[in-house]
Amino acid sequence: MAGGALAPTSGGKQYPGKFTGRVLLTCIFAATGGLIFGYDLGISGGVTSMDVFLKDFFPDVYQKESSVKPSDDQYCKFDSQILTLFTSSLYLAALVSSIGASIATRTYGRRPTMMASGLLFAAGAIVNGLAKNVVMLIVGRLLLGFGIGCANQSVPIYLSKVAPSKYRGAFYMMFQLFITIGILIANLLNYVLARWVGGDTAWRLSLGGAIVPGLIILLGSCFLSDSPNSEIERGNYEKAKDLLLKLRKVDNVDEEFNDLVEASEKAKLVKHAWLNIFKRKYRPQLVFAFCIPMFQQLTGMNVIVFYAPVLFKTIGFGSNASLFSSLITGIVNMLATFVSIFTVDKLGRRKLFLMGGTQMLICQIVITIAIAMKFGLSGNPGAISGSYAGAVVAFICIYVAGFAWSWGPLGWLVPSEIFPLEVRSTAQSINVSINMIFTFIIAQIFTAMLCHLKFGLFICFAVCVVIMSIFIHKLLPETKGIPIEEMTTVWRNHPHWRKYFDEDDAKVETSKPKDIVSA
Ligand code: BGC
Repeated sequence: MAGGALAPTSGGKQYPGKFTGRVLLTCIFAATGGLIFGYDLGISGGVTSMDVFLKDFFPDVYQKESSVKPSDDQYCKFDSQILTLFTSSLYLAALVSSIGASIATRTYGRRPTMMASGLLFAAGAIVNGLAKNVVMLIVGRLLLGFGIGCANQSVPIYLSKVAPSKYRGAFYMMFQLFITIGILIANLLNYVLARWVGGDTAWRLSLGGAIVPGLIILLGSCFLSDSPNSEIERGNYEKAKDLLLKLRKVDNVDEEFNDLVEASEKAKLVKHAWLNIFKRKYRPQLVFAFCIPMFQQLTGMNVIVFYAPVLFKTIGFGSNASLFSSLITGIVNMLATFVSIFTVDKLGRRKLFLMGGTQMLICQIVITIAIAMKFGLSGNPGAISGSYAGAVVAFICIYVAGFAWSWGPLGWLVPSEIFPLEVRSTAQSINVSINMIFTFIIAQIFTAMLCHLKFGLFICFAVCVVIMSIFIHKLLPETKGIPIEEMTTVWRNHPHWRKYFDEDDAKVETSKPKDIVSA
């Protein structure tokens, strides 16, 4: 992570601060929270494509899948709402818990919330690994979901607060990097266990293995200090300053410290953050807190993350080949995230969004044509050649790479950095909640979409990619290198959004905390 990736950027106010080992370590530990999320995103697809798991818990689906002959319609063989509920239920639980976690982070700080996520995740993994029936499976999934809600609520904001402003983008990307590592570990385990272990043990170890990232985040958060902001918010000023001095490793952090105290005092004056965030002056950012996570899911990426093995099986791959191909997409996903890490603070957010969007769009069109030519409307492909299969996997990989250096990391980075402190925690809850709602929807409806839309599945997502790219092009101001405390100016200067800020708002921004209330 040295050199280019962390090159300081210009623009906006910069506080003094060195790239210290302590900052790096803190961020690595905190980003491990992403592991939890990633592991779970990646594990369910592989497990639901294991015959023995289907036989144990979803015998109807197993019967349907195993009785479909190569000459039958392949599009609908996995179409089952109960099966998809196994994957999707977790995201409903995450939705609920992210709201509770937002209250917990305000009261107790982010570190205890991270600890809770590790504990819940470990508990969910144990229940799932020992599952005897579908109820236990779902209870385990719900516990995991509660853990994920806590992690996603606390970790991204923790990172954005601990990292010096000039390196914020790159550090923030670590959260996404660890998500992709989690997905990759899950893909690898599914492949290795299905191939070399087999039987019940394979899926039990896959699901139970979630205990490892759970324990890592639990132990990691025991060694972490809370963020300076968090200490200030709870009145521990000396501790906060001490922490800031250690993090930045410079002699004087007064300017940053004073700004943090002022911002925190402003935040305390806001009585009803949930109502406050709907005020006109936050409207531009609020639009993004809703649209970015929604669009991130509407790229269709989770069709690959959750259901690549099912998708590959549908287009004629054997069980192991499907899991192996998913493993390849997992590797590409992780490696391509580094491109973002190394370029986000140089190229900026807008360019990455638009480049990644174009790449995904081209691949979605090619994949649609490839599936349409082979499967047509009947869903009956006949013999599938190795070169055809290879080409489909290659284009899915290029698509995944496009997501991994754009909407993946930026879907978390941008909503976290655009809000002023007084509403940031609430905004993060909205971001996580919207992300979870759409993750749930995609997870739940994928097999029905495939069954009914057939090869048109990816066209739906392609249309969404066009819409979201226009949205970014027209409406997103560049936020690279702007300290969080000064973010409002980029909205005030944007041709479309400036109408939401009047003179009074400008005065409020520069006034003392007491004046805010009366404004
Ligand atoms: C998204 C997940 C997705 C993952 C893929 C994350 O940013 O929120 O839904 O599965 O990226 O790497």
